[in-house]
Amino acid sequence: MTRRTTTREAGDVSRNEELLRRSRAAVWHPCTQMKLHESQPLVPIVRGEGAWLFDADGRRLLDAVSSWWTNLFGHAQPRIKAAIADQLDRIEHVMLAGLTHEPVIELSERLAALTGLGHAFYGSDGASATEIALKMSAHAWHNRGRSHKNGFASLANGYHGETVGALSVTDIALFRTAYAPLLRPSAVLMSPDARAGGVDAPAQAERAAQALDAWLQAHHEHTAALIVEPLVQCAAGMAMYDPLYLRRARALCDRYEVHLIADEIATGFGRTGTRFACEQAGIRPDFLCLSKGLTGGYLPLSVVLTTEEIYDCFYDDETARGFLHSHSYTGNPLACRAALATLDLLDDAALATNRCIAARLSEAARALDRHPRLMHARRLGMIWAWDADTDDPHFAQRCHRAALDEGLLLRPIGRTLYFMPPYVLDDEAIGHLVRGSLRALDSALA
Ligand SMILES: Cc1ncc(COP(=O)(O)O)c(C=O)c1O
Repeated sequence: MTRRTTTREAGDVSRNEELLRRSRAAVWHPCTQMKLHESQPLVPIVRGEGAWLFDADGRRLLDAVSSWWTNLFGHAQPRIKAAIADQLDRIEHVMLAGLTHEPVIELSERLAALTGLGHAFYGSDGASATEIALKMSAHAWHNRGRSHKNGFASLANGYHGETVGALSVTDIALFRTAYAPLLRPSAVLMSPDARAGGVDAPAQAERAAQALDAWLQAHHEHTAALIVEPLVQCAAGMAMYDPLYLRRARALCDRYEVHLIADEIATGFGRTGTRFACEQAGIRPDFLCLSKGLTGGYLPLSVVLTTEEIYDCFYDDETARGFLHSHSYTGNPLACRAALATLDLLDDAALATNRCIAARLSEAARALDRHPRLMHARRLGMIWAWDADTDDPHFAQRCHRAALDEGLLLRPIGRTLYFMPPYVLDDEAIGHLVRGSLRALDSALA
């Protein structure tokens, strides 16, 4: 990392090292083989500002992955901070069963206006939104007297979270294998991933749509919903695909009476260039799952938006026909205020600014496009990705470590190097990102 701004006397244990020791002793870190940290230290972060993170010794690190794809307008964003602080003086949290509050009402109204989906059901993290959408879909069919429609279909290499229900529709072996006996079987259909099949993106989308058609024809009687990540299967290694697939999927789901669940937990809020990726296909799903950028990366909140038609399936005198799902922190007012401030920031001007940032970063990243060991250069909105020509199973870890030495937070997925930065990169940050990535890549491939 760069810019060491503090000095240390000989014999001092740095604040960083102390935090590392305590964290390893007491915190079980997510998505991590903890033994790895015997040889590869954690990075203790004490503050953030814009696209930058700072460790306890004052070194800075460019957050090129937006803190697991959550952060939109940078760390310590004044408007989001002010909104949360203002809400703290009013009410920090109150249960949403039997009670309501203005932040959750306004957020639901604004999301409805943006998506055309007028009923908002809240959860906490992305996986809880997936769970809600799956349960709501099956329950809606049940309430309509069609309980046999309770199966799900998803795409090869798709990712929808890691709680047991969400993992059942996630197709990433590393996350699934140990839990296979706990998971409910669900169908895994051909991905429209433009890299697959040796044809162009529309042709692969059409091929995958034909596979979906054939599968639905045979299985629609027992299928509640198809769940997809619109335009980019992020955890699959930024697998991008043509919007044609979404249009065909929408039409096929209508024809076979199967719900379409759009998981825009990672792709929502401007990440693909439009506010929501579904806009690029001109479709409206039956369920839209949102989280991550929903609060600008400040607080955990997720939401499932759905239609009048689904809502009506539950509206009844009988309690059990209602959607009796809950989480304690559903619709937390602080998180809703962070989300409202984020929506204020994400106006059309912000999307236009992103197009300018993206053009500058794409230009600077030509050196990566031309790199002899990188293939499949691809980009959509504020996502860039390349696949390294390597069989090294440790490429991702090596590249991550080498990037840290360059003052850069990168987390390659398998052999895919990608950028998913906050929407606040200036030219200095762009230069730092590209130069550091090239050096980290060459070091990891050496
Ligand atoms: C498309 C998608 N769905 C669901 C999730 C799960 O979200 P969370 O990690 O907040 O549970 C993720 C997380 O990366 C995601 O990318």
